[in-house]
Amino acid sequence: MCDSETEPEGRQLTLDTFAVPTVLLLFYICQMRTQVAIIGAGPAGLTLAHLLHRSGIESVIVEHRSREYVIERVRAGVLEQATVDLMVAAGVGDRLQREGMRHDGVHIAFNGRRHRIDFAELTGGSAITIYGQNELVKDLIEARLHTGAPLFFDSDNVTLANLREPRAVVRFIHRDQEYQVEADYVAGCDGFHGISRPAIPATDLRIYERAYPFAWLGILAEAAPSSHELVYCLHDRGFALFSMRSPQLTRLYLQCRPDEDAQDWSDDRIWSELHARLRTDDGFTPTEGRIVQKAVTGMRSMVAEPMRWQRMFLAGDAAHIVPPTGAKGLNLAVADVARLAAAIEAFYRDGSARLLEGYSALALARVWGAQRFSWWMTSTLHRAPDGSEFDYRRQVADLEYLVSSRAAMTSFAESYVGARFDFSHGHNVARTSCSS
Ligand code: FAD
Ligand code: DHB
Repeated sequence: MCDSETEPEGRQLTLDTFAVPTVLLLFYICQMRTQVAIIGAGPAGLTLAHLLHRSGIESVIVEHRSREYVIERVRAGVLEQATVDLMVAAGVGDRLQREGMRHDGVHIAFNGRRHRIDFAELTGGSAITIYGQNELVKDLIEARLHTGAPLFFDSDNVTLANLREPRAVVRFIHRDQEYQVEADYVAGCDGFHGISRPAIPATDLRIYERAYPFAWLGILAEAAPSSHELVYCLHDRGFALFSMRSPQLTRLYLQCRPDEDAQDWSDDRIWSELHARLRTDDGFTPTEGRIVQKAVTGMRSMVAEPMRWQRMFLAGDAAHIVPPTGAKGLNLAVADVARLAAAIEAFYRDGSARLLEGYSALALARVWGAQRFSWWMTSTLHRAPDGSEFDYRRQVADLEYLVSSRAAMTSFAESYVGARFDFSHGHNVARTSCSS
């Protein structure tokens, strides 16, 4: 039978395979019909599915990786206020509210000194919340499984067809069974390396890109955080970032070369480099602990325009990548799908395609704002391999200005905590009182 992680609802199946002997079953293509086929069960795909479900709209999620892999992937940790508000309003924010760590400010360190930027005071009460992306994904998967709606992990050979036709088709293989899902719309939420963006003819897509000549070595350490809030640091030896996941877990990043192997970094070398870069004259330095995870992540900026092609909408990393320095990637993914869910809901509710037609342009406006901020954070806080002493002094002057001007701090704080969502007439969002 058509067997997803959760048993698909009967009305979505057009093939009754119960009576078919197993041998014959192998030759059947399991056919399904849904309103929205979602490719990818990362934060974008899972959030979209959840918002659609709350609006009574059916979806099928097709994910290439296993459930364990998706849940255990350690990535983002900073949630903007709007992301938190949306999750809470959508009924998936209980654990986030209990275990998430609210931060009212952030530190910027350079020349051996830490300077605090007070978000709450500068933005009228907004803050960020530290909550691991994997925890959020875990909550969203649980919510999906609870609905009983289809979610196919371990899907191979995922392909898209008929995107120009009244019904798009998604094909894939799951547990040796071939599937074919017909859908009114496809949501390409399959990240940077997915199949959705490449399914758009090159002539209809414009890609804007920038690669950075450095990367991050990220580690997770079993150590109590030694600062209540994040510390972003520009140092002569390169960028460093102090973050956390819980009162027992510290998350740290070091600028390194993109071609470096994380295994070349011994624990001793990591701690000595972290102390050298992060130590400040107020006594702050990270507390050491057992390193439980190490990985190198490259950095790039990318925007694909438009974010819609025929029956397919791109969302999240499938449509755009930001370097991680501004902590915007996950938040942009959530902003995209909140907008998309509102547009799809308006379409099924009153037959109006107006919001669907406006999706790409309005989502891209937020994307470019985040690109600007992430590029600025990245170029100001890292040392480029071909950077001169002049560049370093200019970067320090930029940071001096940031921490001494209330106007500059306000601008920074506004960008960092992110804008509230505003999707005119988006029913699901209006109901969740996330519009401003
Ligand atoms: P993804 O999370 O990439 O999910 C896409 C899903 O699609 C994956 O599960 C993938 O397996 C699946 N998929 C791929 N191909 C296929 C296929 N062919 N068929 C089916 N499924 C497929 N962002 C922040 O906002 N704040 C931060 O603090 C932050 N820190 C970061 C730190 C690091 C080290 C890194 C690497 C990223 C960070 N980000 C941060 C970025 C953030 O993790 C991403 O932007 C976010 O994961 C995007 O979500 P997504 O759902 O669009 O894509
Ligand atoms: C984290 C990641 C980021 O990219 C960032 O800018 C801040 C914090 C983190 O993983 O905690």
